[in-house]
Amino acid sequence: MSQLQEQINRVKETALEELAVVTDLTGLDEWRIKFLGKKGELTGFLRSMGAVSAEERPAVGQAVNAAKVALESAVDERAVVLKEAAIESNLASDRVDVTLPGRPVTPGYIHIINKTLRDITESFTAMGFQVYEGPEVELDYYNFELLNMPPGHPARSMHDTFYFSESTLLRTHTSPNQIRVAEKLQPPIRIIVPGKCYRSEATDATHEFMFYQCELMVVDKNVTLADLRGTLADFARRLFGQERKVRFRCDYFPYVEPGVDLSIDCGVCKGVGCRSCKYTGWLEIMGAGMIHPQVLRNVGIDPEVYSGYAAGMGPERISMLKYGIDDIRQFYRNDLRFLSQFA
Ligand code: DAH
Repeated sequence: MSQLQEQINRVKETALEELAVVTDLTGLDEWRIKFLGKKGELTGFLRSMGAVSAEERPAVGQAVNAAKVALESAVDERAVVLKEAAIESNLASDRVDVTLPGRPVTPGYIHIINKTLRDITESFTAMGFQVYEGPEVELDYYNFELLNMPPGHPARSMHDTFYFSESTLLRTHTSPNQIRVAEKLQPPIRIIVPGKCYRSEATDATHEFMFYQCELMVVDKNVTLADLRGTLADFARRLFGQERKVRFRCDYFPYVEPGVDLSIDCGVCKGVGCRSCKYTGWLEIMGAGMIHPQVLRNVGIDPEVYSGYAAGMGPERISMLKYGIDDIRQFYRNDLRFLSQFA
């Protein structure tokens, strides 16, 4: 046996001895690198083959390979044993302590605006209204034109509009859904349409560029201003309390005639006058009116046969009045310290 072959055998013996005392999988990896790795001791012989004489080379090569095979099978066997041992020891130490208290679960809650929207929706569905939805990207035609606001109409300037093009925009109110729904349904119609609206506003305590509205529309035979008054006053008292006073005043919206706005008495000063109500004693909660005959004609409903009323209200404003919130921007700041108060 050549000197080289003896050296190979010696490395093999040492490797096997060291393998026998490896106790964990990390140690096994280290062992593998040391003897079988690219720069390992056994591989070292293969790298120095160039210096071995041609006659000796086959025998040396064979010896290295035989040693390699032997070490590889030895390490595989050892790995099986060590893995089993590792599992055993994990099982022994990883016992679950069933007496530990559980981690508390924090359930989510409904956003305050959604809660108000649900309150509004419930009030009206209890009165037999249906709930519809419409698109936030709206046609100028629906948002303005069919609501008696042709291009150039001064009332358009009240709506600071985000336009996509001359004909498409982000709806500035939910009123276009009066048209969308009435185009589809035949009277009697009793619907509400909640949803997001957008206006290009310089934001402040009472203005946001995104806010909700809830539209309401009733069309039937013999619907009068008295129906509007009764229904909306009942709604306002359901929401704010039966003891509250309700006031209707004339207002102007191009799509209604006559138009009104509805206020409730100020909850802070009980109608005496304070900063919240700008010393008027009243807080406005929605616009409303008898649907303009031309708007009915625009959707193919004969105003000689049918009449109706419509209203639009702002859930943010209603929430602010109901819960004493003084800045509309709070709703969409995602500050959990604020939102969690209404959980
Ligand atoms: N669209 C109006 C607004 O954005 C609210 C409104 C007023 C809706 C009168 C109506 C209505 O349906 O009849 O301020």
